[in-house]
Amino acid sequence: MIDGRKKLKGKISVSGAKNAALSIIPAAILSEEPSIITNVPDISDVRFISEILTQMNVRIRKIGDDTLEIDPKNIKQKPATYDLVRRIRASYYLLGAMLGKFSNASVPLPGGCNFGVRPIDQHIKGFTRLGASCKMNGGMISIKAKKIVGNSVYLDIASVGATINVVLAAVKAEGLTVIENAAKEPHVVDLANFLNSMGADVRGAGTDMIKIYGVKKLKGTSYSIVPDQIETGTYMIAAAVTGGDVTIENIIPKHLEAIKSKLEEIGVKVTEKESSIRVVRKSQLNRCNIKTMPHPGFPTDMQPQISALLALAKGTSIISEGVWDNRFRYTEELKRMGANISVDGKIAVIEGVNSLTGTTVKATDLRAGAALVIAALAAQGKTTIENTGHIERGYSKICKKLSDLGANIVKIDGEEPVLHLQKAL
Ligand code: EPZ
Repeated sequence: MIDGRKKLKGKISVSGAKNAALSIIPAAILSEEPSIITNVPDISDVRFISEILTQMNVRIRKIGDDTLEIDPKNIKQKPATYDLVRRIRASYYLLGAMLGKFSNASVPLPGGCNFGVRPIDQHIKGFTRLGASCKMNGGMISIKAKKIVGNSVYLDIASVGATINVVLAAVKAEGLTVIENAAKEPHVVDLANFLNSMGADVRGAGTDMIKIYGVKKLKGTSYSIVPDQIETGTYMIAAAVTGGDVTIENIIPKHLEAIKSKLEEIGVKVTEKESSIRVVRKSQLNRCNIKTMPHPGFPTDMQPQISALLALAKGTSIISEGVWDNRFRYTEELKRMGANISVDGKIAVIEGVNSLTGTTVKATDLRAGAALVIAALAAQGKTTIENTGHIERGYSKICKKLSDLGANIVKIDGEEPVLHLQKAL
């Protein structure tokens, strides 16, 4: 529950990047030796992927608040169980990691957020190019190869998941793999740096051509995950929407360029330092247009959050979603708080309103939940957000971080209210 209209003030530090951790943790199985990974975010998606590996007899030890020791020495190659895999989309990184290690893999079809279909045809195309044969039966994807041989892989879409999965499958391949039209997100670069610290030879990550020279063996390593670009952007927008003054520490300014430039266009003052960024908003919010694109464009994972901000900006803003087919479901919930948004396919038109009003709303996915938190922080009165499990998949300690900044937010544990009518029936 959030009681809105408190200006956020003060300092917070963001956690490690969820979408880097979710590929780096499975990547650790590619060695026979243990690895130490720090700056791991304490979020449920990380707990789920760790649990899946533990079921494969990988020893994972949590050390302190943000460090994992992963020892794959006695790993057993058995397909992960559906009930865990269906909870997170990123379980498909097990395919690339197991293919890279065992030359075969079988994983239940991934689950994840419910916005639009989430195909993996580009992942399969990459694996096939590396010599594997893939088949889907009974909700399982099974991939087999006599051995993984390097090859050229052209991705029809600069898919983050497909890029990462091909890199994972190719690091121990025989020969050279070249990925063209590769994704350039910061978490793709972070995975490449992690693998290279294990002795892999991955070059060009962050550009649209990545070369992977296969190596025989990978050793254990110790590595720190990059700060979360999207978590940082979310708190920048929370500061802006409340008219606050917030400094966010432990960030990489380079990752925030698109978000910073859009916030400045909206009338927010953003000052960056070596590893921190300060967000101050005193004047009114101005409208602007957003087009989400693969990195270095404006991140699609920031689209719901910036739409919540623009719901209160003066004028008409046009949001065009360039990555996903159907990522505007959350606008129905914002409209229940008084926002004026009309959606037509991949375009949303937002007419700014003077204020939003607290009510009960439901999170439909991770970033949709973040958008509802942002709207609630600015709304008049109390907002109750349900299905906050979605939010906890990607935002560690969000209640504490926002309370530390002066927000009036409390987590109400407890069962979903059962409708008495249902009980009666
Ligand atoms: C990753 O998803 C992120 N998830 C998503 O973040 C993020 O929205 C997305 O990248 C884009 O940046 C993780 O990293 C775990 P894609 P991914 O493959 O890899 C289509 C969050 O909030 N496509 O880059 O699944 C696809 O339908 C989550 O943290 C194919 O058609 O995204 C989409 O339209 C939500 N075929 C587009 O490409 C494929 O084989 C981009 O998808 C793969 C993707």
